[in-house]
Amino acid sequence: MQETVIEPTRIKPQANAAQEASARSQQTIKPTTSKDTSAMKSNRSPSEIAESVTKTVGKPLADNAKLSMRDVCVHYDQKQAVYDVNLDIAENQVVALIGPSGCGKSTFLRCMNRMNDTIDICRVSGSIQLDGMDIYDSKLDVVPLRARVGMVFQKPNPFPKSIYDNVAYGPRIHGLVNRRTDLDEIVESSLRRAGLWEEVKDRLASPGTGLSGGQQQRLCIARTIAVSPEVILMDEPCSALDPIATAKIEELIAELSQNFTIAIVTHSMQQAARVSNRTAYFHLGRLIEVNETEKVFTNPDHELTESYITGRFG
Ligand SMILES: Nc1ncnc2c1ncn2[C@@H]1O[C@H](COP(=O)(O)OP(=O)(O)OP(=O)(O)O)[C@@H](O)[C@H]1O
Ligand SMILES: [Mg+2]
Repeated sequence: MQETVIEPTRIKPQANAAQEASARSQQTIKPTTSKDTSAMKSNRSPSEIAESVTKTVGKPLADNAKLSMRDVCVHYDQKQAVYDVNLDIAENQVVALIGPSGCGKSTFLRCMNRMNDTIDICRVSGSIQLDGMDIYDSKLDVVPLRARVGMVFQKPNPFPKSIYDNVAYGPRIHGLVNRRTDLDEIVESSLRRAGLWEEVKDRLASPGTGLSGGQQQRLCIARTIAVSPEVILMDEPCSALDPIATAKIEELIAELSQNFTIAIVTHSMQQAARVSNRTAYFHLGRLIEVNETEKVFTNPDHELTESYITGRFG
């Protein structure tokens, strides 16, 4: 069999975004599994296999966990969306959450900063700890939690405010600064880290909504990092962006992972391979497999993962 292997190398921050984007469009990922896949094929359907999974294969747990999820279940009313998930996300690592549409990626991601609290019918059980602290403790204030665990959404959602005020919003409401010069500094450094400063430094008073989609998404990332979060959750942050803007965000993720812990949901296996250290594969609300990203995409442990990455369903 002719095999093409894409090394899931991390994006080099200095790489030229346009070249990267063009090079990536040529990439495909093909597993180089040595398994006899025909022998693995069971007569059961993917949903039957998923429903019988009681234990995640691979290495779902990690040393130096920043976030520890144990036996996490999520229900929307009577309907269960996430089943007994155990997963650690290690400090300063990027974990990609992948899997077919409706498998619970966004639901599970939203558990990590209690965003599901905003959905009336949603119930979360199990335990989620951030640095050993139970984030579902009834006494916990979710506002500072969400500053520690920030979120970037699928669709860029700048506030209807100026570019400056978008970034200054968090530091202001969290009372992080007293002086205007300190706020100016945070706004500039956040925009610089988000790779947007040079493009907007002369129009900080213009509306954030007037930026291009890719710029808006970087503005949202600047807004998130302005409050110095420890963890950044990203739910398909590039799905509304073109390849050049996507390349810029991916470079940014690689850079941010030096200081932040990141969980990213993506439908792009190439993206997961490029930006993440570990990949978690979900199917019908079950966490099927977690392994080093390279392993997941070249020699996965579970037949469902293999079927998914080879495009047998999705
Ligand atoms: N607000 C909600 N109310 C009721 N059910 C919901 C809600 N949000 C999600 N669900 C259900 O929970 C399950 C998981 O949905 P979720 O959005 O987490 O999947 P996903 O993996 O993120 O899918 P996609 O890749 O399409 O974004 C689905 O069956 C979905 O219909
Ligand atoms: Mg989703």
